[in-house]
Amino acid sequence: MCGIVGYLGQRDASKVLIEGLARLEYRGYDSAGVAVLNGEGLKLRRSVGRLKNLADSLKQAPLHGNMGIGHTRWATHGVPAEKNAHPHPSEDGKVAVIHNGIVENYREIKAELVAAGVKFASDTDTECIAHLVAHYYKGDLLQAAHKAVCRLHGAWALVIAHADHPDLLVVARRGSPLLIGLGEGENFVASDVTPLLPYTRRVIYIDEGQLGTISRKEAHVYDAQLREVPVKVETTTLTLDAAEKGGFEHFMLKEIHEQPVAVEATVRGRVKDGRVDLSELNLDASRVKAMRRIQLIACGTSLYSAMVGKYLLERFTSLPTEAWSASEYRYANPIIDAQTLVVAISQSGETADTLEALRLAKSKGALAVSICNVMGSSIPRMCEGTLYTRAGPEIGVASTKAYTAQLTAFELLALGLGRMLGCDIAADEARLVAGLNALPAQIKKLLEGDIVAVKRCAKRYQGVANFMYIGRHYNFPTALEGALKLKEISYIHAEGYAGGEMKHGPLALVEGTFPTIAIAPRGHTREKMLSNIQEIKARKGVVVVVATEGDAEAHELADYIIEIPACEEELSPILAVVPLQLLAYYTANQLGRDVDKPRNLAKSVTVE
Ligand code: G6P
Repeated sequence: MCGIVGYLGQRDASKVLIEGLARLEYRGYDSAGVAVLNGEGLKLRRSVGRLKNLADSLKQAPLHGNMGIGHTRWATHGVPAEKNAHPHPSEDGKVAVIHNGIVENYREIKAELVAAGVKFASDTDTECIAHLVAHYYKGDLLQAAHKAVCRLHGAWALVIAHADHPDLLVVARRGSPLLIGLGEGENFVASDVTPLLPYTRRVIYIDEGQLGTISRKEAHVYDAQLREVPVKVETTTLTLDAAEKGGFEHFMLKEIHEQPVAVEATVRGRVKDGRVDLSELNLDASRVKAMRRIQLIACGTSLYSAMVGKYLLERFTSLPTEAWSASEYRYANPIIDAQTLVVAISQSGETADTLEALRLAKSKGALAVSICNVMGSSIPRMCEGTLYTRAGPEIGVASTKAYTAQLTAFELLALGLGRMLGCDIAADEARLVAGLNALPAQIKKLLEGDIVAVKRCAKRYQGVANFMYIGRHYNFPTALEGALKLKEISYIHAEGYAGGEMKHGPLALVEGTFPTIAIAPRGHTREKMLSNIQEIKARKGVVVVVATEGDAEAHELADYIIEIPACEEELSPILAVVPLQLLAYYTANQLGRDVDKPRNLAKSVTVE
């Protein structure tokens, strides 16, 4: 977690840093700070709370200078407080450090430094890095940073400034993302590309274990032994527009409306002559044929897409498939060998638990691929191949378009692998390819048509304290995802359950005011779902039914009906989740919640 920006050039550094941090606030937002170098040395300003507090403080008392570093924090060690906000200075104030990650051995380093007489000013793990750099500094900042980094265990993206080096920032990366942006007579460093977009599209991704230096004119990259390595300059195709709200009240709403485009982009170019083409994964066909099992590893919303993926993969590849929460996988002794295909699913490509689970699988010889939304992020870099979801930057903390794009990618992956494995999928492929091509227009129609029904529903139930979501088979994960959306942004308690499990406990909760959202589109479990709905109605529960349009029986049973267009059963999770995203959005918005930045959460969870 945490967002990092650094700037060296002729512009007002504070302004560049604040604007850059605003684009990174999704990475954490409990405090923020900058250090700017001017004639009086490195000047720090830090504020608790949203970035606005820091921006206001800088407006009242500006810090002038054209070199600086900035940070937006999501606390891991030490409560959100001014003293714990970054940058962290050395005792003499000459060194300033910003950090994203965790120094696992900071206690040991701190004890050593304290014994040597260093006084710590914060409760963070990061502060020890500033003191270490100061301790090793003998005139060469890169050398000192390298020595300090060699002492660290854990994960870091680091930017280090020194008051005696007005034309130098030193960077280092392990386990947390970091990239350099190349301008004309100015250079940048950031956690992701969005802060750089107003200035440049030319970027250098810092790799695992690397360090780097930037001045106004140059950038150099070094390996872990401090040997210079050639820089690889890439040109990003992202536009600034894509990273901004585009007229919607919130990023989340904008991203919900971007789903037709996200799904279409994810399919584009991957179906040739009616067949799914996964050649971009560069998988060796004989290696794939040797696979005996598939393991899917992911967290949060990505895990729910993996649960749908499990059903699809088993259906079309006939290989036993498990969907694992990455944080469980790592400690549960999963059976992994060279005949295991591991698929990591991640919007950000940076989630620490998913990364570590992937590392474990690779260390045991598994063939690793990923479904990911962020090019050049850590997870795809570790994999043999990646099916990118092409949803564009997702800024709202609650994932929406990345989820439907992941589901789309799973349809392609399951069919493509099925074909590689010689399974008889031709008829299903023809059916689902046609269905996938129809989806963007169907989602669009759904977004235009059902908003009124969803808004009415959100208004009616916003005062309710508990919600139940139920679904079966492909739409059991939809129930989990619908419940997650509601609880994470509205703070209303919601539970997702398999429809058939209601009578084993949750039915006891049902009474007059208790609403259940039942996901019951056409398919082989619809009738069973209708029975579950009957059971709830018989106990005077309130039921909102998500059903296929024209389903008269569902209509009759429902207190509220939300209709989705008719589609292939395997594709129904992609359509059914859309009204649930909107229901969560409107409920949270009516309750005045901070929809894009729910309390206690962050988008990119780069700590375990
Ligand atoms: C956080 C986000 C979720 C996301 C999860 C996994 O909890 O708030 O929206 O689903 O991380 O993130 P990933 O980037 O790996 O998909």
